[in-house]
Amino acid sequence: MSIQPLALTVAGTDPCGGAGIPADLKTFAALGVYGFSVVTVVVAQNSSQVLGTAVVDREMVGRQILALMAHSRPQAMKTGALGNAEIVAEVASAISSFGLPAPVVDPVILSSGGARLLDKQGEDAMRKHLLPIAALVTPNVPEAQALSAIQIQNVAAMREAARVIYKMGPRAVLIKGGHLAAPQLAVDLLYDGQRYIELAQERIEGSGAHGTGCALSAAITAWLARGAEMEDAVRKGKAFVTRALRYAFQLGAGRPLLNPWAGAQSRKDNGSDG
Ligand SMILES: Nc1ncnc2c1ncn2[C@@H]1O[C@H](COP(=O)(O)OP(=O)(O)OP(=O)(O)O)[C@@H](O)[C@H]1O
Ligand SMILES: [Mg+2]
Repeated sequence: MSIQPLALTVAGTDPCGGAGIPADLKTFAALGVYGFSVVTVVVAQNSSQVLGTAVVDREMVGRQILALMAHSRPQAMKTGALGNAEIVAEVASAISSFGLPAPVVDPVILSSGGARLLDKQGEDAMRKHLLPIAALVTPNVPEAQALSAIQIQNVAAMREAARVIYKMGPRAVLIKGGHLAAPQLAVDLLYDGQRYIELAQERIEGSGAHGTGCALSAAITAWLARGAEMEDAVRKGKAFVTRALRYAFQLGAGRPLLNPWAGAQSRKDNGSDG
């Protein structure tokens, strides 16, 4: 029997640790969850720019998962950057054949700035192979627009896009509103096929930290590994990201970095343990 919850992330690297696998592992650890990780794409990046990428062979991605299967089974998993259509298909096939938990899929198709991180074939493969087996898919606004072909300027349009994406097969859809023009609030929308739940938290000004999407999907995955129901996991994940942004810190010349230990930090500030 495992002594603590275990979660798996299948994603890309980030040498500066603000996004991708290092961010996921820090988030898991901050929430008391042990992390396994499978690398899909090596990304030469820092918090401000991407200098290049090298996608891992499909076979090597499969072999990393195989190595873990001989070890222990995670209680929850997420996917982040997957590199290309072949890897999307490989990961989906491994999830089915090994009976892995239904994944939290952070689509990582379009960056917040609109740059493409997964080509059209990869996006089609995600629709075909990964979304139908997902527990949750967490597109940002540009990704939700690409997947649903609906322009999103407000929460009403988020609802419409969520309905379209839900029909692609995931058990739930969370559209992230970080990039919506809402002055005081960062509003995300969760749809499980029955209910629309708006999750509104204070918008933190001027931080511009990268990796918010990775931290959110990793925190939700960590809470699922701890046994939370989806709505609860999403609420706790959103609270985690808001705190990590509020206590973001500056390291050298880069953009601010999220602070995954902010929960402990804010408890100290409040002078309480709760
Ligand atoms: N300034 C902000 N203040 C508070 N919460 C924010 C802010 N910006 C984003 N968020 C929240 O962070 C989470 C990630 O959303 P976002 O829209 O930034 O995803 P993303 O574009 O996928 O991120 P990434 O740039 O890491 O790919 C969401 O819960 C969103 O509401
Ligand atoms: Mg993202």
